[in-house]
Amino acid sequence: MMNEAPLHVVTGAFGYTGRALTERLLSDGVRVRTLTNSPLRAHPFGDRVEVHPLALGDAERLTASLRGADVLFNTYWVRFNHRLFNFEQAVANTKALFSAAQGAGVRRVVHVSVLRADEADDLGYYRGKHALEAALRASGLSHAIVRPAVLFGRGDILINNIAWTLRRMPFAGVFGDGRYGVRPLHVDEMAEVMIDAAGRAENVMIDAVGPERFQYPQLLTALAEILGLRRRLVRVPKRVGWLVGRALGPFIGDVILTWEEILALTRGLLDCDSPATGAIRLTDWAREHRDTLGVRYAGEIPRRIHRSAAYEAL
Ligand SMILES: NC(=O)c1ccc[n+]([C@@H]2O[C@H](COP(=O)([O-])OP(=O)(O)OC[C@H]3O[C@@H](n4cnc5c(N)ncnc54)[C@H](OP(=O)(O)O)[C@@H]3O)[C@@H](O)[C@H]2O)c1
Repeated sequence: MMNEAPLHVVTGAFGYTGRALTERLLSDGVRVRTLTNSPLRAHPFGDRVEVHPLALGDAERLTASLRGADVLFNTYWVRFNHRLFNFEQAVANTKALFSAAQGAGVRRVVHVSVLRADEADDLGYYRGKHALEAALRASGLSHAIVRPAVLFGRGDILINNIAWTLRRMPFAGVFGDGRYGVRPLHVDEMAEVMIDAAGRAENVMIDAVGPERFQYPQLLTALAEILGLRRRLVRVPKRVGWLVGRALGPFIGDVILTWEEILALTRGLLDCDSPATGAIRLTDWAREHRDTLGVRYAGEIPRRIHRSAAYEAL
């Protein structure tokens, strides 16, 4: 029989993590189908990816689009509550996706969560992630939960926008006392972790973190140095930092940073002691990409509104 390579389904193959993952899967010779909210989004895959709508409100259609899949890789999530989307819907939608995977007989689910998902139920983002980890565990599906803290590499938002701010401001703001860490992982290595997790038999939970560990002020200093900038670090109360970001948001046309994101960062939720799951150092990568890093602002809201443009064009 022809064309019997296993079929892998990726939610959001034209997004950030989904795209890096899809590049890897295609180069491994597997068939990829994406379930996407943005079927018209520009992408580099030509006709090598089968495109289905992410029909989260239609259980039958969703199940049909998962039938025949060996693995479901789920990257779908929303970053914050907004008039167009929210965590509650994202949790319900993801549970519907898990049920559909079960109904379709998918062998393995690789689900992207977040580092320390079970440690901050007072934050909507974390509460939702925690609930989904529990739902997947309870589902009986064979699964892997992959927990990144911060990802970097082409098209990322956080590291790029820190660099963007450094390029434009005479000083760099440190929220609170700055005594909290960050473990960034390259997005291609995130894809490798996910593919490796798909191939394992047992249910696993993996902290997806890179080889470098920065205290936040150290991260700012390292990036400024790489960009050839001298920037004074200024401590800013968390609330003030958030209010400044909120005031600037409308001028940039984005939600720059949410209050929850500032709390997660300053509570140290982006840090852990787990061994590195990748070898690419942010500092090496940033040096290689110093001419482009942070030159353009990367917006979350534009990605949600302009659904036919590639992320890097927004
Ligand atoms: N990026 C990071 O640094 C980071 C850090 C920790 C955890 N994570 C987790 O990693 C996963 C992937 O993140 P990512 O940064 O790669 O995200 P992404 O590509 O921007 O989004 C993942 C997919 O979710 C869909 N999506 C995102 N926001 C949506 C919204 N508001 N409404 C409807 N659909 C939406 C998009 O679908 P379409 O493109 O099909 O519209 C997208 O393909 C998420 O679970 C995230 O929580 C990421």
